Amino acid sequence: MSKNHNDSSDKPSNPSRRSFMKGFGVTSLGAVAAGQGLIGSLEACAPATGSKTLGPGIVPVTLRVNGKNVRVNIEPSATLAEVLHEQIGLTGTKTGCDRGACGACTVLLDGKAVCSCMTLAVDTVDQKIETIEGVGDDKRLHPIQQAFIESDAMQCGFCTPGMVLSCKALLDANPNPSDSDIRKAVSGNLCRCGTYPKIFQAMKQVAQLK
Ligand code: FES
Ligand code: FES
Repeated sequence: MSKNHNDSSDKPSNPSRRSFMKGFGVTSLGAVAAGQGLIGSLEACAPATGSKTLGPGIVPVTLRVNGKNVRVNIEPSATLAEVLHEQIGLTGTKTGCDRGACGACTVLLDGKAVCSCMTLAVDTVDQKIETIEGVGDDKRLHPIQQAFIESDAMQCGFCTPGMVLSCKALLDANPNPSDSDIRKAVSGNLCRCGTYPKIFQAMKQVAQLK
């Protein structure tokens, strides 16, 4: 769950209609998904709420993305997923459902996995944003990425960036996760190709290296 989700003192006094609708959307989807047994937990997809009210109109903000300060001019209604893709050019973060149900857009905010499609970019000012581009690259794969390759834990790869980041959030917080911990960590990430057994295998492999 994002850092601020349960902290009512941090909630903006005048939330936008979009953030209200998004909050409503994730709650409704969570109820439906849980009822159908599709998603074990939507914690990672809770919308982030910030302490500042910005706008209306385009506002200049500085985001801390993968260790670098990035200056962008954004609409207060722009999601982090939109800004990462369209303004910062980081396309590794995928958008699947755009409503908090699939986890493809997972990024880390101050080390915690959140859905960037459910997070307003203006709410991420002053937080550390980590995308898949910050985890590793072709010449320097993260151990989780290496383990995914060795375990053949991907098919089409669409869910993989989000999966890797959810796994990273878990391992950074808990280097020796149980099977249950691993399942819970990726329970908000849907893989339509059904690679879960391989993902669990990869995670166990990485955990044994620690
Ligand atoms: S949860 Fe964000 S794109 Fe599906
Ligand atoms: S590998 Fe295709 S959706 Fe997960």
